[in-house]
Amino acid sequence: MVGAKRITPVINLGGTAGIIPPVPYRGREVFICEMSVGVRSLREAPPWGPTSEVPTSGDVGPLCGLFGGCMLDKLNDLEKAALDSLQSVNDQAALDAWRVENIGRSSSLMQVFAELGKLSKEERPAVGAAANRVKVTLESALAERSEAVKTALLAKSLEEEQLDVTLPGRTIHRGRLHPSTQQLRRVLDILAEMGFQVYTSREVETDEMNFQLLNFPPHHPAREMQDTFFVQAGERGDNPILLRTQTSPGQIRAMREFAAMNPDNPPPIRIAVPGMCYRYEQITARSEIQFNQVEGLAVGPNITFSDLKGTLIEFAHRMFGQHARTRFRAAYFPFTEPSAEMDVECFVCGGKGCQVCKKSGWLEILGCGMVHPVVLQNGGYDPTRYSGYAWGMGPERQLMLRYKIDDIRYFWGNDLRFLEQF
Ligand code: DAH
Repeated sequence: MVGAKRITPVINLGGTAGIIPPVPYRGREVFICEMSVGVRSLREAPPWGPTSEVPTSGDVGPLCGLFGGCMLDKLNDLEKAALDSLQSVNDQAALDAWRVENIGRSSSLMQVFAELGKLSKEERPAVGAAANRVKVTLESALAERSEAVKTALLAKSLEEEQLDVTLPGRTIHRGRLHPSTQQLRRVLDILAEMGFQVYTSREVETDEMNFQLLNFPPHHPAREMQDTFFVQAGERGDNPILLRTQTSPGQIRAMREFAAMNPDNPPPIRIAVPGMCYRYEQITARSEIQFNQVEGLAVGPNITFSDLKGTLIEFAHRMFGQHARTRFRAAYFPFTEPSAEMDVECFVCGGKGCQVCKKSGWLEILGCGMVHPVVLQNGGYDPTRYSGYAWGMGPERQLMLRYKIDDIRYFWGNDLRFLEQF
């Protein structure tokens, strides 16, 4: 700290440079410094004196320690170097690297801050203020440069990566409902308009519901028509668990549910029971092990076969067109008496006879009949007071006829080439 008292450094950090007279030091006249907005170094020539008299930082020697002149010099240099190198920074990575090098925690500038404590009380405020100023200058220069780099990059990408807004967009692949579901919904829409309520029943059934209560006693030969998947036979004797082979057990479940509302005077019923059925069939072009059915059931006082015919003919008109011709043929089902099958005129050949209708001119679309008294009884409806009609139709079969699909296996083959046509 020699000379600290003798020579007071004149540092003007903010305003216009003052005129500072040279100070004598070790037989030489020395210009301490002249500060304007930037920290001007000792090396800078005063406007009035011979430059040969001005000490360089190398010459200054002890002044470094005395006035923080060396620090100021260093600050001045690093500010200049930093600002210079910033000019060539052109991308984000370089900006980051520049920040780390020049204002990062281990940058030279931060070392100046770390060394402030080593300076004298007189020197510290000046050097501290100068270091702060350099820091602020560098930070704002960085911000400015970042902005410029960003703008330049944007301009460049706009220039180079031109967006062709006339390119057609990529179409979004839209899913759709399975054709069976679509047909199921068409059927239910029509039936709903005709006053039928949708009633869903279970797919896993008991033998009793699927067969016995529908008037198929155990070992009845009519069971032959409906080869069955048994889920659990074992100890259940004559009442094994099975996958329903038809939607008809929904008739018993619905009647029992409605009858339970008022057992002495059960309410009338008009329902459609849609859903999947299963049969242990060999899979061929004409038979599958699973398929949908829509069961119809109407129960009430004075329901007649004419009601059945009128309803089904109206359904056929709504489904296949107002001019679709229909016919009923006598048939046999254990749970209806009398029973019938209904045909519509082949809409492929218009009744003339073709491969689809096997030259008959007619296509079978459903089985139907008047609900058997035993079945009414089993459902909780007194057959002396109530009568009813029922039918069972297959939506897949209707689709096959409508679109001339010649192989039922397409429905569950999951082939998009087939499914996407609907
Ligand atoms: N359940 C019969 C079958 O799958 C179809 C059927 C025929 C249902 C006549 C009925 C009916 O309700 O009355 O083959």
